[in-house]
Amino acid sequence: MPQDVPPAVRMYELLYSSVTSQLLIAVAELGVADHLGDGESRHVDDLAKLTDSHPGSLYRALRALASIGVFTEVEERVFGLTPLAATLRGDADGSMRDLARYVGLAPRQQAFGALLHSVRTGTPAFDHVHGVSWWEYLTSHGELASVFNAAMGNMSQLVNGATLESYDLSGAKHLVDVGGGKGHLVASILKRYPEMTAVVYDLPRVVPAAEEVLRAEGVADRAKCVGGDFLEWVPDGGDLYIVSWTLHDWDDEDSVALLRNIRAVLPADGTLIVIDEVPPPGDAPHFGKFEDIVMLTLLTGHIRTEAELVPLFEAAGLRITEIRPTSSPTSVIVAVPA
Ligand SMILES: C[S@@+](CC[C@H](N)C(=O)[O-])C[C@H]1O[C@@H](n2cnc3c(N)ncnc32)[C@H](O)[C@@H]1O
Repeated sequence: MPQDVPPAVRMYELLYSSVTSQLLIAVAELGVADHLGDGESRHVDDLAKLTDSHPGSLYRALRALASIGVFTEVEERVFGLTPLAATLRGDADGSMRDLARYVGLAPRQQAFGALLHSVRTGTPAFDHVHGVSWWEYLTSHGELASVFNAAMGNMSQLVNGATLESYDLSGAKHLVDVGGGKGHLVASILKRYPEMTAVVYDLPRVVPAAEEVLRAEGVADRAKCVGGDFLEWVPDGGDLYIVSWTLHDWDDEDSVALLRNIRAVLPADGTLIVIDEVPPPGDAPHFGKFEDIVMLTLLTGHIRTEAELVPLFEAAGLRITEIRPTSSPTSVIVAVPA
């Protein structure tokens, strides 16, 4: 917290921080950044035409965002990209555009409007508002599920590069990515380790999208997609199992069930890698402490500290050997059979 700002002023800013998020969602939805190439700038009137928006209002939106480093006003009413604004381009390396669209989904936003319910009761505001769980809602709303899956694709790109840089997987022969989503992590790993084969394991409805990604990434000859429920069973045959950006979605009981199902098929010399945020205890800042509130509001999951993770792994017959931080907010949690 900046020391030179009176607490009431800082609180005013913090209370309005959702305005920043809403502005980012709006310009991502409009595709403003997609109309600005590297080093290119455009008058706001052009941008308004290209994005079918109101010039004066788009100016106010971009001026506010430029004041925090997203876009830059290079001359009066003429805007260009900054590195932060470039992440809102759909085709950017490290694009966050799909994540912005997902954060903006109305049913998700309505749940956050009822966050107080979660804090009062410990149960998901999403279920309170919509009468069904997040996962049930996605199952019956295919268009939302596509936005969610695309957003998870953005997150995997962010997390995958950081994971692969920090952890050497060269000893592994056959990888099973449990809750592997659209297969981005498997594709990155197989490209890096040409001898490895892999399975992307996820809900049956996700399989077609994952198959498409594996084909597009040119690794379909070494990877297959399997549909199923990881709370029931996990495919065998791997010497390396990965659970990326997924364990935090589940409460302790389901997390142990998932870990036990992996333990049941993990060979004695096999390795489980869980990629997740592991915030430090106490006041230390860590983005995981906010992602944890997303879990509280939408799901029954938790972002867990090391002290909270250890007993879950132990209950599943696993032993954590290392928790390695990466350049993204996630850490690599390495476990072996106990
Ligand atoms: C937060 S996403 C993470 C996806 C991917 N691992 C990544 O890093 O982008 C959680 C994944 O778990 C999958 N999932 C949820 N419930 C599942 C279940 N019961 N069995 C198998 N997969 C499930 C979802 O479809 C989704 O792809």
